Amino acid sequence: MGKKKVQKKARSAEGARVDYAPEQKVLLARITADVSEHLAGKPRRLAHSLSVASTAEQLALIYGVDPFLARAAGLLHDWEKAASVSEQLAHAHELGIDLGVELELVHSVLHGMIAARVLPERYPEIPPSVWHAIAVHTSASADMGPLDEVLFVADGIEPLRPASPGIKRSRSLVGKVPLDDIFWESFVGGVVYVLEGGRYLYPGTIDVYNALAARRAGKSGARKKEN
Ligand SMILES: [Fe+2]
Ligand SMILES: [Fe+2]
Repeated sequence: MGKKKVQKKARSAEGARVDYAPEQKVLLARITADVSEHLAGKPRRLAHSLSVASTAEQLALIYGVDPFLARAAGLLHDWEKAASVSEQLAHAHELGIDLGVELELVHSVLHGMIAARVLPERYPEIPPSVWHAIAVHTSASADMGPLDEVLFVADGIEPLRPASPGIKRSRSLVGKVPLDDIFWESFVGGVVYVLEGGRYLYPGTIDVYNALAARRAGKSGARKKEN
């Protein structure tokens, strides 16, 4: 999407309320009630989930993504965070999740993958694109689509999250640059955060980084050739 188009959409989405179809309203109300109950013991996590849902909906309106899917994904993305880390590890083992390393080392990326496998049975009316977005909201993936990017970015910039310089910058880019670019900034910021903290980096992240970097280099190479 071009810069002008993005800015125009950003203006039109400011403060916009979405007029959902009756069945979508019913489903969103049901999901909101379910999440509120499921995360009742973790009020900050619940507030974050509701905030990600609103942020994802706004980003979706700005960038031409389905706001209903974005809101549903935001509401449900941290569902598995109701469980403790040891419970998440047990769930991941039960589900046969294999990331090629000891799951304890990468426990922080598991909750999205677990939710994406558990929740479809509960909400068969929600399409697979929402589960994919939830599955990759922690680790990202080489095949990020617009809904995946909307959720990933919303998770990082929702207003309840304390602002670091990187988060402030990502927030300031909304509506001014393409979604791909804000996602890239958020993703790289997350990788740098892990490295600077001296924490273990999920090896899959390096592959994702290289795939995305190569794609972006290809794009800018193609643009240079055109000019
Ligand atoms: Fe999460
Ligand atoms: Fe989150």
